Amino acid sequence: MLRLDNLAKRYKTGDHALRGVSLEVDRGQIVGLIGPSGAGKSTLIRCINRLVEPTGGKVYLNDVELTSMSGADLRRVRRRIGMIFQEYALVERLTVMENVLSGRLGYVPFWRSFLRRYPQADVDKAFALLERVGLAEHADKRADELSGGQRQRVGIARALEQDPELLLIDEPTASLDPKTSRQIMRLIREICEERSLPAVINIHDVLLARMFVDRIIGLTAGEVVFDGPPAELDDAVLTRIYGAEDWTAMQTAAAEDAEDAEDAAAAHGGHVRRAAEGERPEERLAGLA
Ligand SMILES: Nc1ncnc2c1ncn2[C@@H]1O[C@H](COP(=O)(O)OP(=O)(O)OP(=O)(O)O)[C@@H](O)[C@H]1O
Ligand SMILES: [Mg+2]
Repeated sequence: MLRLDNLAKRYKTGDHALRGVSLEVDRGQIVGLIGPSGAGKSTLIRCINRLVEPTGGKVYLNDVELTSMSGADLRRVRRRIGMIFQEYALVERLTVMENVLSGRLGYVPFWRSFLRRYPQADVDKAFALLERVGLAEHADKRADELSGGQRQRVGIARALEQDPELLLIDEPTASLDPKTSRQIMRLIREICEERSLPAVINIHDVLLARMFVDRIIGLTAGEVVFDGPPAELDDAVLTRIYGAEDWTAMQTAAAEDAEDAEDAAAAHGGHVRRAAEGERPEERLAGLA
């Protein structure tokens, strides 16, 4: 499905962001890419659809080489790759529906998209997707009226509107609280399963990655240092990926999170209050719906 062959990237600044990464991702497989800051996770994802130009190696999607393409061919193949971003990258003053439809921009003639006139079939599909991600009743709201979790749901629907064969997702939950993060990861996982859609997800939260992905790839200084199922991700492997000090610090932070949640639960007669996780009231309601 997706194949990277000795992929390398050296930025003009001299930074060796990727030092020869080779891997294959099968249909329907959800891969979590973990590693310390600066390891090359974002670079890897962006080299796949050539938002960043690799300086070495090859990328194949369904045996078609992307790295040698240009112009219209490259645009056509890019449409088959859905991107979901940490900061959602929504157009704030447009409605939720219009943001989802913008996923079709690669398909709709310029004048139609300029007049914001989309074929009815596209509108119907966008509505079905909004329903799938739980936002049907928010279709006419402006993007800037939504909570973080809702915004990421729009980002997911927009990526799906273009009928992707592959999803590339860069830190989808980095701006979200723990509970919303789990909801978003669960949604991504379910959608990938429904559509046998493969996904590569950059995720800095190891515990979250463990919960929701099929396979973990650990990247350190531009090289793959681990590739295996989440169950094999033990302390020794995590130390190899993150270094001993960083990994111990992460464990402490995770334990503190868990303690906070327990304290909050005790204080509220056994119910874990969402507010303890910094969730906004409207998200709490959305979570109950
Ligand atoms: N546009 C750029 N120009 C020059 N160097 C860059 C550029 N983007 C990234 N780098 C460098 O490439 C390396 C990998 O960066 P990248 O953003 O891919 O890491 P990352 O694993 O996504 O990190 P983070 O977890 O902080 O998002 C770093 O050394 C970074 O400084
Ligand atoms: Mg990054």
